[in-house]
Formats: sequence, structure tokens, C-alpha cells
Amino acid sequence: KKTAPLPDDIRAMKGGVPIVSLTAYTTPMAQLLDPHCDLVLVGDSVGMVLHGLPSTLGVTLGMMILHGQAVRRGLSRAMMVVDLPFGSYEESPAQAFRTAARVMAETGAGAVKLEGGRGMAETIAFLAARGVPVMAHVGLTPQSINTLGGYRVQGRGAAADAILADARAVAEAGAFAVVLEKVPARLADRITAEVAIPTIGIGASSGCDGQILVVDDMLGLFTAFRPKFAKRYATLGDDAEKAVEAYAAEVRARAFPAAEHVFGDDAPGATS
Ligand code: KIV
Ligand code: NA
Repeated sequence: KKTAPLPDDIRAMKGGVPIVSLTAYTTPMAQLLDPHCDLVLVGDSVGMVLHGLPSTLGVTLGMMILHGQAVRRGLSRAMMVVDLPFGSYEESPAQAFRTAARVMAETGAGAVKLEGGRGMAETIAFLAARGVPVMAHVGLTPQSINTLGGYRVQGRGAAADAILADARAVAEAGAFAVVLEKVPARLADRITAEVAIPTIGIGASSGCDGQILVVDDMLGLFTAFRPKFAKRYATLGDDAEKAVEAYAAEVRARAFPAAEHVFGDDAPGATS
């Protein structure tokens, strides 16, 4: 693709080749993901992954805008979606619109994501009717950790119907896609079959219309805890630790800097 996909292009990927998405929070990471991803999410996971917060509840709109601006500068072909942080949209559709409009104006995002199902359907419809494409997020919704009572799998047993109803409600309200987080695979497959918009799974099912992971999880950069669904495709955290250890040893041994890292008085190229 030469130009970034629009929300309708993502919607049209329902049932086709799975949608590839990852989170990003910085320009260089966005540049790395851009050729390979259909969609890049500036997730509020940034609070835990980059800022050391204990949950996503402390993430501010200012943080999302700053990281959204950084990611925007690194993308040329993937679509960017920015998470609305806790407290910035739940109060009313009008509050959600004000927040989303500011995120879109200040970051260049073509869409926002918010957490919630039936309870957010009215807000999603309000935004969609006013030029704000919305990606929804149901199942485990980390901003509701204090009412969910933990990061457990959602929708097991009799609770399955409630998650299905949430996914249906956001689709009918006009969301262009829905993230399904930490739900049983069989329920994810059922939702994927029964709702008209693409499902993007995280801890869900290979049968979803797309997948998303937190990029620092899949690169092995974030190691404070490790959800079962966070497959590690690299161990960059371990590599970084080894590199820092080697640097520290070389500095203490005066082995770094070596001759090739320092400048002579007057040799040609001494300024380079
Ligand atoms: O904030 C985030 O990274 C997310 C994804 C895991 C879906 O919401
Ligand atoms: Na999020």
C-alpha cells in the first residue's frame, strides 16, 4: 500500500488476511513497525511500559498526545490509532468528543480507541456521527481493573454472552473494529463470526480478524511481568543488559574508549 489505510479499509479487512497491529510510543519504533503493520496503536499501556506506572489509570491526555505526536512522525503507511486515557471520555459523549477532537487535531491520528461495550455504545455512535472513527475494546479492559477485580480472563462460562453483547453493541454503534482482550478462544471465534466488524485479538484467538501485541512485550524489552499471550519474538532486554554490563566493565578497565574512538591533535579527519 502506498497510502495509510483509512478506518473503512481496516473494516473491509474483515474475514480476509489478518490485520497486523502492534503498539508503539516513539518515533524510531514507529519507523520500525511502519512497513509491516496495517495499524499502529499508541496504547495507554505506555504508562506501564515506558513510565513505570502500576496500571494504566494514571495515564494523562498530555502523555497520550506527546506519544501520539512522536509516533505520527515515524509512520508513512500504517494507520495510527490513539487510546483515550482513563477519565478523559467516560463521563459523557460530549466529553469524549472534546477529548477525541483534541487528540486528532494535536497528533494527526485518524481514529481513537476507547474501552467499553454496551455502556460506551452511545458515546461511540456520538463520535462516529461527528467525524471520529472509533476502535472499541472489550473483554479485559485494563482501565476498569478496580471494578473487574484483577487481570483475569473475561467471558468464561455464563459471562460469555455479556462480552458478545458488548461486541455487538459497539459494532452496531459504528465502531470500525474491536479489540478482544483476554477472552476464551472459543468466545473470540464466536464473536468474530457474529459481529460485522473486524475483531483484533490479544490473548484471544488466531481466528480473530487481526492480532495486536504490546511491542515491548514481543521484543522482550518489558519484563516486569509477562502475560501468557505475550509471545516473545526477541530478547532485546537481555541483549541490552549484556551491552550495559560490557560497557561498565570496559570503562572501569579503561578499555573504552579505544584508539578508534578518540581524536588526534592534527590528523586529517580529526574533526570527524
Ligand atoms: O494500551 C494498549 O496497549 C492496548 C492494546 C494492548 C490493545 O490497549
Ligand atoms: Na489500552
